[in-house]
Amino acid sequence: METRVYIETHGCQMNVADTERAATGLRKAGYQITESADTADVVLLNTCSVRERAERKVFTRVGEIRHNAEAHKPVIGVMGCVAQLEGEAIFDNAASIQMVIGTRATDRIASLIERIKDGERTVIDLAERQDGENWDVSPVERHSPHVAFVPIIEGCNKFCSFCIVPYSRGRENSRPAVEIVKEVQRLIQLGYKEIHLIGQNVNSYRPRSSEGLKSFSGATPFCKLVRAVAETGMPRIKFTTSFPRDFHPDIVAAIEEYSNLCDWIHLPVQSGSDRILRLMRRGHNAASYLEKISVIKRASRRLSLTSDIIVGFPGETERDFEDTLALVRECQYDGLYIFKYSQRPGTPAAKFDDTVSVAEKKARFLELETVQREIQNRIYRNYLGKSLSVLVEGRSTRSESDMTGHSTCHKVMNFRGEPGLEGQILNVAVTEAKTNSLYGELLG
Ligand code: 5AD
Ligand code: SF4
Repeated sequence: METRVYIETHGCQMNVADTERAATGLRKAGYQITESADTADVVLLNTCSVRERAERKVFTRVGEIRHNAEAHKPVIGVMGCVAQLEGEAIFDNAASIQMVIGTRATDRIASLIERIKDGERTVIDLAERQDGENWDVSPVERHSPHVAFVPIIEGCNKFCSFCIVPYSRGRENSRPAVEIVKEVQRLIQLGYKEIHLIGQNVNSYRPRSSEGLKSFSGATPFCKLVRAVAETGMPRIKFTTSFPRDFHPDIVAAIEEYSNLCDWIHLPVQSGSDRILRLMRRGHNAASYLEKISVIKRASRRLSLTSDIIVGFPGETERDFEDTLALVRECQYDGLYIFKYSQRPGTPAAKFDDTVSVAEKKARFLELETVQREIQNRIYRNYLGKSLSVLVEGRSTRSESDMTGHSTCHKVMNFRGEPGLEGQILNVAVTEAKTNSLYGELLG
C-alpha cells in the first residue's frame, strides 16, 4: 500500500508555497498526500518561528497528533523554520519526532522518509538547496485553484535586529526570471486568475542572470520582473512583502502602467520612532518611509496600503510609542498587523533588555488597535456605494448563502451568491462596511 503523508502548514505564505512544493515532490516519488493527520503514515508539521507563540505550538501539536493517532503511531517530522533553527535539539525535546527537515530540504523529503523506512531511528537535513532542485508545483497541490503563490526570492539578508528569518531561511536566493514568467504563463493556461509574487523582501530580487528581464524597463530587477509578469496577461498580480528601504518609486509607476498590477502595497514600517528604528536596524527612518508613502498616495489610482508594527520593542518609551501612533495616523493604512515584541533567541535584539512589561505591551497594542480601527472604519465606509472587482474564491464561512473573495485592493469581500460563481472576477457594489471586510451586492 502507498505511504500516506499529511502536511500541516503553519505561518506565512512562504510555508504554504513550501508545502505545495514538498507535496509535489512526494507524490512524484509515489507517496499519497492525505487530508487528515489521523490516518496518515507520516505527519509533517511545516512550522513558523517568527513569534514565540507559533514556535511553542509545534510541540503541543505533536502531542495532539500522537494522542489522536495512537493506534497506528505515524512517523512525525518537523519542517520549516523551527526545524532549521532547532536542528538536532528537536529530537531531545520530543522523542516522538523522527524527522527534522530544514527550510531548503523540501525536495529531499522522499529520500528522508525512505531512510526511516529502512530502519534509521531519526533523520535530519539542514543543508542548502542542491543544483537541479527547481521550484516545481503541480496544480493539484496548490492551496487554491484560483490564486497561486509564486516565490521569487527566498531568504533575507537584512538582519533586522528582532527578526529570526535571516537565520531560519538563510541568505537571499532569487529565482531566474525566465522560470518565474514561464510558471505564470502556465498558471494562466490552468485558469488561475490571481498570483502573488512572494518573498521576505521582494524588492531585493536580484537573479544571477538578467535573462528574461532585458527587454523590460525598470529601475531595479524587481521593477523589471513586475513588468515582465504583467505582460503575460495574468488577470491580477499582487506582491508581498516590500521592504521600505529598497522600495523604489518605479514600482508605483509600473502599477500605473499595467491595470493587472493590483492596487495594494504591503510596506511594513515596524515603528514610527527613529530611535527605535535604528535599534531595529531597519535602514529607514520615519521621514524616509513617509517619502515612499507620499509617492504611493500620489498615484493616479488609489493604492491600498497595509503595514506591520511591533509594539514594546526593547527600550521603547511612551514617547517612542507616541511617534508610532502619529505615523499610523499620518499613513492612514487600510490594514495593520500589530505584534507585541517577543524575544527571538539568536537575534541581536535578544541581547537588549526587554524593558517593556507584558502589561505595557498589551496596553500599547490595544491603544494602537483602537487608533487603527477608527482610521480603517473611515476608509472602509468610503467604499460604500462603490463597485469593486472581486475574484470569487469560495463559500463564505459565515453564511451558507454568501460567497467570499478579495478585491484588487486586497479587501475581503462577501456577497450573496452561488458556488457556481467561484473562480470568476465580478463587480460587486459595496453595501456594508464591517471591521475587517466589506459586504456587497453582485452587479448584473
Ligand atoms: N516580535 C514581534 N513581532 C515580530 N515580527 C517579526 N519578528 C518579531 C518579533 N521578534 C513581526 C514583524 C514582521 C511580521 C511578519 O512579524 O512585524 O513584519
Ligand atoms: Fe525579517 Fe527584516 Fe528580513 Fe523582513 S526584512 S524578513 S523583518 S530581517
